[in-house]
Amino acid sequence: MAIRDLIISNRSCRRFEEGFAVERRTLEELVELTRFSASAANLQPLKYILCCEPAKNAAVFPTLAWAGYLKDWPGPAEGERPAAYIVILGDTEINNTFGCDHGIALQSILLGAREMGLAGCAIGLIKRDELRKALDVPARSEILLVVALGKPKEQVVIEEVGQDGSIKYWRDDAGVHHVPKRSLKELIIG
Ligand SMILES: Cc1cc2nc3c(=O)[nH]c(=O)nc-3n(C[C@H](O)[C@H](O)[C@H](O)COP(=O)(O)O)c2cc1C
Repeated sequence: MAIRDLIISNRSCRRFEEGFAVERRTLEELVELTRFSASAANLQPLKYILCCEPAKNAAVFPTLAWAGYLKDWPGPAEGERPAAYIVILGDTEINNTFGCDHGIALQSILLGAREMGLAGCAIGLIKRDELRKALDVPARSEILLVVALGKPKEQVVIEEVGQDGSIKYWRDDAGVHHVPKRSLKELIIG
């Protein structure tokens, strides 16, 4: 797929075919993409924990917050939850700030997943203490992001930001998720 098409098809997905397993090897392939991604001062301070076993997934899920703008939706129901997670950590023994390294790693993982026919969602709103306990995350590691992954079970479409200027995503009666994006004209200011 051309990079433009891949990026456009890479929408955050929050409902999955939970029964469709994502193997550990697949997660390793996705993390491998981050090895070849840019890193400030080439410090490569990011570390990862991979989760794809039902028991581990069940421990991770309650630590994550889903779709803050969808006030009436508590997050994916059983059967529609992610089949796997990649937890992105910052190793504080390498550096104490991580700049935008984890954003770059996130995009590499998500695009790689999309190319494989999977989909994902970055989760930044995390009950970090609970997740640390659940996965026994070492004290030296800062929890930066979780990437939820699986076979997509929802349709997501891009919309232009409307007259009201709202960037809040919404879901229609058919369950389609709509994501407003600002126009190119609004982004380029000079
Ligand atoms: C750093 C970061 C943190 C995010 N955290 C969450 C989150 O905690 N929960 C969630 O449901 N989505 C989260 N998202 C997904 C955004 O809501 C999503 O990217 C946005 O709605 C635009 O949709 P799109 O990814 O399809 O373009 C996060 C995205 C990024 C980049």
